Amino acid sequence: MATERTLSIIKPDAVAKNAIGEIIARFEKAGLQVVAAKMLKLDDDKAGGFYAEHKERPFFKDLVGFMTSGPVVVQVLEGDDAIAKNRELMGATNPKEAAPGTIRADFAETIDANAVHGSDSAESAEREIAYFFGADEICPR
Ligand code: PPS
Repeated sequence: MATERTLSIIKPDAVAKNAIGEIIARFEKAGLQVVAAKMLKLDDDKAGGFYAEHKERPFFKDLVGFMTSGPVVVQVLEGDDAIAKNRELMGATNPKEAAPGTIRADFAETIDANAVHGSDSAESAEREIAYFFGADEICPR
């Protein structure tokens, strides 16, 4: 199994619910380490740039509006198979379809406010990590 890094975002709905600690505890209990973290209030440009691949989707404006509606916590998670492991912990994009015990099943109600983001491939992880963190902000143990 390869050691990987992935980008995780705790979205404004989960931050508003005071669930930051509970969500990070799930990552840590699953063997992932937080090697970088910061809390940010995204603006339209930063959120729009992050989701640029979805620019033509009908939900793009709502997605950017939601992601700028309150603070988010962005983190780099590191560990064996980190990208797939994080996606498994998150559950399906639509919380109504998320498996019991996943973060989205437990902390999210709707597809447009779904608690967490996680990179979906090694290429996305590399791009997304560089979008939020400089190399000097990442602290492997
Ligand atoms: S895809 O095609 O698999 O990349 O699309 P998907 O993963 O389903 O969704 C990409 C991101 O868009 C968000 N999303 C939505 N936001 C608002 N409204 C609606 N209807 C909606 N559908 C999808 C979804 O939460 C994904 O955000 P991230 O942060 O990548 O999980």
